[in-house]
Amino acid sequence: MVPDIEIRDLTVSFETADGPVPAVSGLSTTFRAGRISGVIGESGSGKSVMGLSILRLLPNTARVSGSCKLGEQELYTLPLNELRKLRGASIGLIPQNPGASLDPVMRIGRQLTEAITTHGRRSRGEAKAQAAELLRQFGFERPEQILEQYAFQMSGGMSQRLVSALGLACHPGWVIADEPTKGLDAVIRNQVYRVLRQIYTQHHSSMIVITHDLRLARQLCDDIRVMYMGQIIEQNTAQEVMEHPRHPYTAGLIHAMPGGGMTPIPSPDPDRAVHQGCPFYPRCARAEARCGLSVPGDYALPGGGKVRCFLYE
Ligand SMILES: Nc1ncnc2c1ncn2[C@@H]1O[C@H](COP(=O)(O)OP(=O)(O)OP(=O)(O)O)[C@@H](O)[C@H]1O
Ligand SMILES: [Mg+2]
Repeated sequence: MVPDIEIRDLTVSFETADGPVPAVSGLSTTFRAGRISGVIGESGSGKSVMGLSILRLLPNTARVSGSCKLGEQELYTLPLNELRKLRGASIGLIPQNPGASLDPVMRIGRQLTEAITTHGRRSRGEAKAQAAELLRQFGFERPEQILEQYAFQMSGGMSQRLVSALGLACHPGWVIADEPTKGLDAVIRNQVYRVLRQIYTQHHSSMIVITHDLRLARQLCDDIRVMYMGQIIEQNTAQEVMEHPRHPYTAGLIHAMPGGGMTPIPSPDPDRAVHQGCPFYPRCARAEARCGLSVPGDYALPGGGKVRCFLYE
C-alpha cells in the first residue's frame, strides 16, 4: 500500500541579499494516496517550492520548517542516504525545468537505463528495452535513435517529455509532476496527459500535478488545491473548483484563462496595501471591511471542500 503524503505547518523562505523572501507560509495538507491531486495558482505562489520541499530538493538558501511525512516516515529528518533511496523509487519527480535536470554529457539512453537499474533489479538489456518503450509512450517515434543522443540535441518539448519519462522510470508509488505540459503543443500535450492517466491506472501511481494548464487539471485530477502567496486558499474536487470556484482568487484564475474570458486578476489597490487581513484583500473585488482587519480561517463547504474566505463563514 502506498502511504499518504502529509505536510504540516510547512514554512519556507529564501535567504537573499535583500533579506528573506517568503515562499510558503504555514501550509498543511494531506495528499491522499490513490488520487491525482492538482495544484494551481499564479506564478510565484509557492507551488514548486512546496513540491520540491517534499523531496528536500530546495537550494541550500532555503529555510524550511514544519513536517512532511510519507506514511510513518518523517522526510525532513530522514538521513540523506535513506532519502536518496526514496527519490525516484517511492516518489518520482517530473521537474519544472527540464534543461537543468538532464545531464549534458551523458547519452539519453544511459540516463534512462541508470534510472531504471538504480532501483529496479533489471539487466542492462531489459532496462534499455524498457527505456525505449517509455519513450515510445511519450510520443518518440524512433526511441532507439533518441537513446543514442544527448540532451542538447533535444528541442524544449522533447526535453519536457524526456524528464517525464525519467521521473516515471521506476514506476514510483508517488509522482510529483511540476508543469508536465509546459511548452508542448496541443497534440503532444494530450499525449502527455494520456500517458499520465495510463501510468495512474496501470501502475496505480498517486500523483501531485502542479500546473498552469487548468484544462489539464480539470481533465486529469481528482481534486485541486489552489495556492496564493504560499498558502492553500481553496481545495475541492476538480469539478467543483473549475465549475463552482468559491474563492474570488480562484474565480479570477479561471476568468483569466483563454476559455474564461482572459480577464486578468486586478493588481493590488495601493489604498489597501497596509492591512492585517486576508492576503488577497488588496486585490479582491469582493472584499468587505473585515477582510482587511483579520485573517479568515478554512471554512468547510458542503461536499467536503474548504475555502479560506469570509464570504463562506
Ligand atoms: N532559489 C530561490 N531563491 C529565492 N527565492 C526563490 C527561490 N525559489 C523560489 N523563490 C521564491 O519563492 C516564491 C515561490 O516560488 P515558486 O517557484 O514555488 O513559485 P511557483 O508557484 O512554482 O511559480 P511558477 O508557476 O512560475 O512556477 C517566489 O516568490 C519565488 O520568487
Ligand atoms: Mg513552479
